[in-house]
Amino acid sequence: MTPAASAPAIAVTGLRKSFGDQVVLDGIDLEVAEGTIFALLGPNGAGKTTTVHILSTLSAPDGGGIRVGGHDPALHPDLVRAAIGVTGQFSAVDGLLTGEENLVLMADLHHLGRVGGRRRAAELLRRFDLAEAAGKTAATYSGGMRRRLDLAMTLVGDPRIIFLDEPTTGLDPRSRRTMWQIIRRLAAGGTTIFLTTQQLDEADELADRIAVLDHGTLVAEGTAAELKSRIPGGHIQLQFADADSLDAAARALAGATPDRDALSLQVPGDGSVRSLRALLDRLDRDGLDVQELSVHTPDLDDVFFALTGHPTTGTDRTTTESTGTTGTTEKEAVR
Ligand SMILES: Nc1ncnc2c1ncn2[C@@H]1O[C@H](COP(=O)(O)OP(=O)(O)OP(=O)(O)O)[C@@H](O)[C@H]1O
Ligand SMILES: [Mg+2]
Repeated sequence: MTPAASAPAIAVTGLRKSFGDQVVLDGIDLEVAEGTIFALLGPNGAGKTTTVHILSTLSAPDGGGIRVGGHDPALHPDLVRAAIGVTGQFSAVDGLLTGEENLVLMADLHHLGRVGGRRRAAELLRRFDLAEAAGKTAATYSGGMRRRLDLAMTLVGDPRIIFLDEPTTGLDPRSRRTMWQIIRRLAAGGTTIFLTTQQLDEADELADRIAVLDHGTLVAEGTAAELKSRIPGGHIQLQFADADSLDAAARALAGATPDRDALSLQVPGDGSVRSLRALLDRLDRDGLDVQELSVHTPDLDDVFFALTGHPTTGTDRTTTESTGTTGTTEKEAVR
């Protein structure tokens, strides 16, 4: 455990950055405790990569106070670089080199020496389940393998703080889970992790604290539970075959909100078995014929919508990755 009095791994106040007359970061404050996972959540173009670049010394801010690993990146970039590792949004892997060669190259950059470098490369290849593929060129790796190699390269220097810019974007659900496991293990070992994601379930799954970035400002910051508590509760959605059934159900169920176009009815409820049973009993008793029922528990997508008034789709790109489960929050469809 980290002593409560220890300085935060990352502390940022009033961070500002513009490109030309486009304000990208408009006064950001955040703090990441040592050994914790912090998720910066935002849609395309929100400023996530810009934040990572500034905190990792790759780009200069226009203003604000920054401490990373206790040092100011503007004054002591070398000390910051010695404490951190960065896995960028776009791979740093050299496709023409083998997995092992990529790692040894990183080890050389960290002056680990010939023997030390090879040992470190072998250890990381094993740890990231890449030992078998070690001698193959990285261009032949799958997306998940490439992403693991990328992260392994970040860990060569044994950083205390790592930045992961969208570590799972483009990965299939299984590779995504593998990456989550790796990230959790790193944090359990005491590494501080600052990750960015567009995916609400990912932040929910991994992060101790989450900050929601929207158009250059943080619109919320807290634990997943705290963020969820800021929005209205869950509901049960009932689907009907025709308007008459919908109207009859709407009359019978107090507090329910009908949507006549969709022939659906939203009934407030926490999705517990008890409330579901009560609802089903009521529908039975009144002879109401429901076509479909689904339970909707609030998630971070709802939080984003509640906080910003718009969904998580960015404004500067029209496509989103297809791996996410961000679009729908319906669960347990029962026919
Ligand atoms: N070097 C640059 N020059 C000019 N504009 C830039 C530069 N880097 C970023 N921007 C702009 O700043 C905004 C934020 O970009 P950034 O890459 O930080 O977003 P992001 O949250 O990482 O988005 P994504 O999810 O698409 O990766 C965008 O509008 C982008 O076009
Ligand atoms: Mg980005």
